[in-house]
Amino acid sequence: MADLVTVRLKVNGVEREGRCEPRKLLVDFLREDLGLTGTHVGCEHGICGACTILLDGQAARSCIMLAVQADGAELMTVEGLAQDGKLHPLQEAFREHHGLQCGFCTPGMLMTSLDLLRTNPTPTDEEIREGISAVLCRCTGYQGIVNAVRAAARTPGGSR
Ligand code: FES
Ligand code: FES
Repeated sequence: MADLVTVRLKVNGVEREGRCEPRKLLVDFLREDLGLTGTHVGCEHGICGACTILLDGQAARSCIMLAVQADGAELMTVEGLAQDGKLHPLQEAFREHHGLQCGFCTPGMLMTSLDLLRTNPTPTDEEIREGISAVLCRCTGYQGIVNAVRAAARTPGGSR
């Protein structure tokens, strides 16, 4: 077994640290070492987007990064969306507009949508489709997701 390295980062506003092998993927570090299992693992090679998080404010696939590469970074995962027991407007909109079925893609879809709304707070439907095209959903047919992101964009705090 390789020597363990220390990884320190800020996740959802909290300083965290763990020790892992240098080859450990960031998504596995989040799930296994930090207990943040909201970020899902799908394809494990950068295609499906289920593992998407915000890394220093930008959407990134945590399955094609090593944990050591995120040392010193600021991350936001799906667990950081709800605050004070209240769902984030995007989460509310996904629930309201049937933006999920099995929920497997949902963490990545939510973080990708948040990145989109922070970059473009008033996207057209075409821009929403383009924005979420980096995440694959096998269930919804996408219309519910587009409806949800559009609704969140019109809600105060939708991109907080
Ligand atoms: S699990 Fe990372 S892109 Fe599919
Ligand atoms: S809700 Fe099932 S994969 Fe998207």
